[in-house]
Amino acid sequence: MKRLEGRSALITGSARGIGRSFAEAYAREGARVAIADIDIGRARATAGEIGPAAYAVEMDVTRQASIDAAVAACVKEAGGIDILVNNAALFDLAPIVEITRESYDRLFSINVAGTLFTLQAAARQMIAQGRGGKIINMASQAGRRGEALVAVYCATKAAVISLTQSAGLDLIRHGINVNAIAPGVVDGEHWDGVDALFARYENRPLGEKKRLVGEEVPFGRMGTADDLTGMAIFLASKESNYVVAQTYNVDGGNWMS
Ligand SMILES: NC(=O)c1ccc[n+]([C@@H]2O[C@H](COP(=O)([O-])OP(=O)(O)OC[C@H]3O[C@@H](n4cnc5c(N)ncnc54)[C@H](O)[C@@H]3O)[C@@H](O)[C@H]2O)c1
Repeated sequence: MKRLEGRSALITGSARGIGRSFAEAYAREGARVAIADIDIGRARATAGEIGPAAYAVEMDVTRQASIDAAVAACVKEAGGIDILVNNAALFDLAPIVEITRESYDRLFSINVAGTLFTLQAAARQMIAQGRGGKIINMASQAGRRGEALVAVYCATKAAVISLTQSAGLDLIRHGINVNAIAPGVVDGEHWDGVDALFARYENRPLGEKKRLVGEEVPFGRMGTADDLTGMAIFLASKESNYVVAQTYNVDGGNWMS
């Protein structure tokens, strides 16, 4: 039996990476999925590869008009929104004394304000529909504790965990479950970029940081986007109706809380 049959899902930043894997998994489980991304060319290609269950939506989570247009697109294409995954995010890295306001503003604008105001727009639509809903925010192990070179990104993900708690407590009276997933280290294009930044700041050859973080995972390797889809399906399905305001670590044992 398909677990998301007839549901409409909006996944931000799903042209590639973890969001794309979630989109593929939701489509397999019977949902219609909006591949919402600032990179509309890649979103269209991804939607085409997934098939008729998916459609591309141009979306910049830092712009309110774009958020509202993405929600409207889901209403037009799929009759509403039942599932939102707040997945779009940006990473940066710098020692404290080198952090720039520009980097701080950009990360908070996408990772925190983007999450909050997309959640708000989807929640308004879900409340108007009157059939509840599921909202999943992408946090990170970085939100569980600070890291020497990763202050701003860590702070944005701690904020995502906090917003998940407050929104979860506020929206459950409308039958909307808000929860989060905190991945550890997930291989892919995102971590290629992270690796290159560590190579610069820690004076390492390319690929070394990736190898080291993978070796440190208790499970024995870095995660893959597909390692996260079981939790993403669970939190989007009715099996999680009594789960409220939680952040789940899916990280091969990297963090306990
Ligand atoms: N990869 C990891 O190791 C890891 C670990 C912990 C948490 N996470 C979190 O998981 C989520 C997905 O990570 P990923 O590795 O797939 O990232 P990724 O960089 O591969 O994908 C991010 C997507 O977001 C899109 N995007 C960027 N800015 C946007 C904007 N303003 N509006 C809409 N879309 C925008 C990009 O075009 C891209 O398709 C993120 O929230 C990330 O912080 C990732």
